[in-house]
Amino acid sequence: MFDKSKEIPISADHGGYEMKQYLIEKLSERGYKLIDMGTFSKESVDYPDFIHPLAKAVNDQEYELGIILCGSGNGAQMTANKYSNVRAGLAWDKKQAELTKQHNKANILSLPGRFLDFNDAVEIVEVFLNTEFEGGRHNRRVEKISQKS
Ligand code: RB5
Repeated sequence: MFDKSKEIPISADHGGYEMKQYLIEKLSERGYKLIDMGTFSKESVDYPDFIHPLAKAVNDQEYELGIILCGSGNGAQMTANKYSNVRAGLAWDKKQAELTKQHNKANILSLPGRFLDFNDAVEIVEVFLNTEFEGGRHNRRVEKISQKS
């Protein structure tokens, strides 16, 4: 189970802003400590400006896990995965969130803020936070992710 004393950074662009606010409210009620790294309004912004700081913080091991959002989840995920210690997984249901942690050792969850029911998103984040990496054969595969040909 996730240690709820650990802080979890969360950031989004305008496409994920409203879902981010909802997640902060509902997950805080459940005892999680979310750190809001923006954006702070519905105004149009560039998603890398809000994803880079979070991904860098996870990359530098300031935080164990992070949550990112944009409209589709793709731009946020692509930005975060520029960091060598980051494995950002995109999830649109609980099974995807579970698998990206169990098999890919994801340390950042990317959500498509415009394509998910808000209550489903809360459940998806809880599954992500509380699922463990399986290790075993997946260790070898995860180690190969950063190998370039
Ligand atoms: C913003 O309109 C949208 O492009 C962005 O939120 C995201 O979906 C990019 O991948």
